[in-house]
Amino acid sequence: MYKNVIILGAQWGDEGKGKIVDLLTKKSSYVVRYQGGHNAGHTLYVNKKKIILHIVPSGILHDNVVGILGNGVVISPIALINEIYSLEKQGIFIKDKILISENCFLVLPYHVHMDVSREKSSEIDIIGTTKRGIGPAYEDKIARRGLRIGDLRNIKQLEIKLKEILYYYNFQLINFYKSNPVDYNSVLSEILDNAPFLINMIADIPEILHSAIKSKKMLIFEGAQGTFLDIDHGTYPYVTSSNSTAGGASIGSGIGPLNFDYILGVFKAYSTRVGFGPFPTEVFNKLDDYFCKQGKEFGSTTGRKRRTGWLDLIMLKRAICINSFSGLCLTKLDVLDYLQDIKICVAYRKNHDIISTTTPLFIDNWNEVTPIYETLPGWNVSTMGINSFSDLPYAAKNYIRRIEEILELPIHFISTGPDRKHIIILNNLFDI
Ligand code: GDP
Ligand code: IMO
Ligand code: MG
Repeated sequence: MYKNVIILGAQWGDEGKGKIVDLLTKKSSYVVRYQGGHNAGHTLYVNKKKIILHIVPSGILHDNVVGILGNGVVISPIALINEIYSLEKQGIFIKDKILISENCFLVLPYHVHMDVSREKSSEIDIIGTTKRGIGPAYEDKIARRGLRIGDLRNIKQLEIKLKEILYYYNFQLINFYKSNPVDYNSVLSEILDNAPFLINMIADIPEILHSAIKSKKMLIFEGAQGTFLDIDHGTYPYVTSSNSTAGGASIGSGIGPLNFDYILGVFKAYSTRVGFGPFPTEVFNKLDDYFCKQGKEFGSTTGRKRRTGWLDLIMLKRAICINSFSGLCLTKLDVLDYLQDIKICVAYRKNHDIISTTTPLFIDNWNEVTPIYETLPGWNVSTMGINSFSDLPYAAKNYIRRIEEILELPIHFISTGPDRKHIIILNNLFDI
């Protein structure tokens, strides 16, 4: 049985990772977020109850599981605390089973203000961010001016750093973005109000994870966003500001790469992306309406309509190579149920008719590719909630086998609906 498993999205986020993490965490001791912040949004259905998580790791709903926010995560104190309290209102008590690294960087109001001001200021470079301040918070980290959870322990020093940071931010906000400055006292009082709550959760995460590995406990590492939103490997600049790919799990949690023994790539039976950026297989009008309606493709963080398109196997091949996936999980199969024909992108046509089976690496070259599709027959019958591969209609089995054949990688899990129970387990690798 695999012990240290990374689960992450193979597309542009919203693949249904949260549901899969929740399901597969059942027997694990810890579930670890390693990057991103409250820009993520995962919708889970457990016992018919809808639960939306943003920064709290998805596996935490199981009683025995402790949630960890590793050093790669950026934390908005107010967002984390509000999420914990809003879960309490739903009868889910997790306050005493979340641990955070003191090296997590803080997302504070001036990051949000900067994120919003930037998105407003340009019509050309607009990314379509979640406006949660994630990009500016990671910028501060790399620029070595950020505040971390550990800084909350020394408020005197934090006050000095905060003054300098706000001098820097307000200069830009006022002079460049022609926006209002951020008030030092209000930011400081927000920090002071929330500091004791967060300090209580601090733990030595690498040490905890190493002892868990020594005592052969199971760990799940939960990626947020998706492969093509990765700052290095995604469709830059239309990406998020962290490493959402598998390599990020090691850096963002503090355990070495050789400790991971299985990496699961989650992808949905079609594609979606929120915000701007290249999307070769994007569809519009009737088909877009179909995907949006059947798949309920509206963001769980911002409520924005997601752009939709056909499944792109060229992008998935790249995702397999970047993440060294051990196996795949196909989600939202049921969304295809009532399509006459189903297309999968098997190659790109580039300028001058050159056929390519790799994704472009540079942003300008994405405009030059158009998808080449293979068309497979639909099945026109409901697969919602089916639990066994043999119960799937012939055309659905055919569709799944064809994807495996092209990708040269097995599909180990198939999700057939939003509920925890709507799953086909083809290989019970985690003894769930
Ligand atoms: P995540 O960010 O990757 O966790 O995904 P989101 O939660 O943002 O988006 C996935 C959406 O699809 C959620 O509303 C889920 O409830 C839903 N979902 C997950 N798996 C399935 C599935 O197999 N079928 C259907 N119909 N919905 C699913
Ligand atoms: P989950 O974990 C889908 C997108 C935003 C925008 C870009 C940058 O639910 O899959 P940011 O606020 O991160 O600076 O925005 O990244 N984005 C997501 N898209 N799912 C997500 O998370 C996302 N998190 C960020 O829409 O295009
Ligand atoms: Mg999501």
